[in-house]
Amino acid sequence: DSVLVHAPATLSNLGCGFDVFGLALAAPYDTIRLRRTGAPGVRIRHLDAYNLPTDPARNVAGVALLALLAAVPEAVGFEMEITKGIKPGSGVGSSAASAAGAVVAANALLGNRFSQLELVEFAMAGEALASGARHADNVAPAIFGGFTVVRALEPATDIVALPAPTLWVAVVHPQIEIKTKDARQVLPAAVPLGLAVRQWANVAGLVAGFLTADYGLISRSLDDYIVEPARAPLIPGLAEARRRALAAGALGGGISGSGPSIFMLNRDEPTAHAVAAALGSVFAELGIEFNLYVGTV
Ligand code: HSE
Repeated sequence: DSVLVHAPATLSNLGCGFDVFGLALAAPYDTIRLRRTGAPGVRIRHLDAYNLPTDPARNVAGVALLALLAAVPEAVGFEMEITKGIKPGSGVGSSAASAAGAVVAANALLGNRFSQLELVEFAMAGEALASGARHADNVAPAIFGGFTVVRALEPATDIVALPAPTLWVAVVHPQIEIKTKDARQVLPAAVPLGLAVRQWANVAGLVAGFLTADYGLISRSLDDYIVEPARAPLIPGLAEARRRALAAGALGGGISGSGPSIFMLNRDEPTAHAVAAALGSVFAELGIEFNLYVGTV
């Protein structure tokens, strides 16, 4: 008796909403097959070529499952097969997808005894292993779907799930390595009030834009004045990529999560393809290998 789950890639931060906003994509996704076993603990098999650790204590999906098991000791054990459809380290929530998929599958096998919020808590244990910080802005959209706002993490997680209007996403993943841990170390410890005001004005504008499907408002509200300027030096070509994407018709975008991927939101599929080509052209000129992705939310 096993359960098969598709766990989607996600865009976290989504411009101005550092550690708060997340958006689930239709694809790519990780595939997780899970079955209960009489052997205590978690056994992991990877059916992909990424050589991720199979020791559950060192695997994000393993850590998430172990956190869930600690809350249901009578469940005894799980056997998990993971097929990564999302490239690790690409900045579209690869680790979060595996952690989220594992606990969603376990919940289905256990009669759905946990709420989605509780599943986010378990998945975050896995995510903390990957990034060195507890953040839910990738696991929340992976579990709830759509557009999510992580209003609070401590003491109690508070997540608002909102519908997203029709949007096409273009993502470029340049082959540069950026560890989330490192990308969090470059962030400013304090923010001038004027910048903070501009930022939370955008945060409010983006939420309103999503709720009313006001594409002009979405376009004007995406920019991040606080986190992206600090991280920009980690991604060569970022400014030029944005310039060309906007010229090709993108609504706006920025660094996906902590990078290195760059995302752009678009109104329709043809624009998203033109924007993806524009993003790719920058990295082709820089001689940096890249992958492109175009899809819906
Ligand atoms: N919100 C997190 C960050 C996402 O930007 O560091 C990391 O994937």
